[in-house]
Amino acid sequence: MNIQEAKNKLEKYNQGHVLKDFDTLSESDKESLLKQIAETDFSVTDSIINKKENAKRGVISPIKAMTLNEIEENKAEYTEIGLETIREGKVGAVLLAGGMGTRLGSDNPKGMNDIGITKPVYIFQRIIRNLLDVVDEAGVWIHLFIMTSDKNHEATTAFFKEQNYFTYNPEYIHFFKQDMAPAATFEGKVYMESPSKIATSPNGNGGWFSSMKNSGIVDIIHKEGIEWLNVFAVDNVLQRIADPCFIGATISKKCNVGSKVVRKTNPDEKVGVMCLEDGKPSIVEYYEQTEEIRNTKDENGEPAYNFGVILNYLFNEKDLEHICDNELPLHIVEKKIPYMNEDGEFIKPEEPNGYKFETLILDMIHMLDTCLPFEVVRDKEFAPIKNKTGVDSIDSARELLKKNGVQL
Ligand code: UTP
Repeated sequence: MNIQEAKNKLEKYNQGHVLKDFDTLSESDKESLLKQIAETDFSVTDSIINKKENAKRGVISPIKAMTLNEIEENKAEYTEIGLETIREGKVGAVLLAGGMGTRLGSDNPKGMNDIGITKPVYIFQRIIRNLLDVVDEAGVWIHLFIMTSDKNHEATTAFFKEQNYFTYNPEYIHFFKQDMAPAATFEGKVYMESPSKIATSPNGNGGWFSSMKNSGIVDIIHKEGIEWLNVFAVDNVLQRIADPCFIGATISKKCNVGSKVVRKTNPDEKVGVMCLEDGKPSIVEYYEQTEEIRNTKDENGEPAYNFGVILNYLFNEKDLEHICDNELPLHIVEKKIPYMNEDGEFIKPEEPNGYKFETLILDMIHMLDTCLPFEVVRDKEFAPIKNKTGVDSIDSARELLKKNGVQL
């Protein structure tokens, strides 16, 4: 892209300030800024104007989950189906590790956090250990795809190498980078990180499959004949990955997607709940839950919307190709965005100072016809690390790991 083309593109989106310092830049910085302008989708900033409209929801009604009792009754059968599917090489795992983990506040990738007490125990290490449990049970390696972002790719790949992939077979580990989106002021002007760089951030966890396609990694899935992808978050250190029983149950029930869920502890718990929206599976985030959603009871007197998602889904690969052709809704999230101010100083704000633009994996569920909410025991499978202290922190995760007999 040449300077005139860049000017035209920026003008169209009212972002002329991006070239403010262009004339003072070195040749290589000029080149890299022009390249970034060419690659950046500035149209996301328009969504700030349509913010209210995007928030409209359909008619919400309860969805039936497969509860612990039902799972226990059929455990042997589901597990066998799941193990067989894994042994046939039809299951892959996708670790979402492209997030910035801003709440935890460390500059390193979240998975590099050492949560050990007497010895190093890294978050990535716990995840690999959990996947190795299934590899050992099934007797075959499982392909693991790890999504990083521009911000943490080098650090993540170097760390895995340095740690010898935590004994996993490196031929079965594939890294890919997710796409980035610009970050903007509340008025929709993109922030600059430096005179030659637009401030960007990963484009949300909904971008994982399109990023797999864009990076070409999807070819491995096709070549290997992988039919099911278990997608999960980096920050749940009790995460059961490629769980044979979960896979078997989703296949037996002929569902497009399976979603691991936990029973809510109380109506106000800050967790997205599974439901039907206009008759299709969906998730209502905690901040969108009305009094009715929080307090409606079912025919047994139990809360009707009682199952919270833990970001562990089993998708069918064919459906993903189809979902990818449709556009996911864009979420506009208030965040703290480091930026360069008018005087050229780099500022790390203490309070949210603008918007990031993200698509979310939970919106992919609503694009499918059937979903199996699959209940798991919270204390055995859900130990998220989101915050520095208190709820969902390293301390709370340590307690849960100890409860499950993990040496720290
Ligand atoms: P979160 O929603 O907790 O976001 O991610 P985050 O960026 O890690 O943390 P905060 O909100 O800044 O504190 C849930 C999962 O989705 C992944 C994260 O790595 C985590 O596994 N994720 C999130 C991505 O892979 N890419 C993204 O753009 C966002």
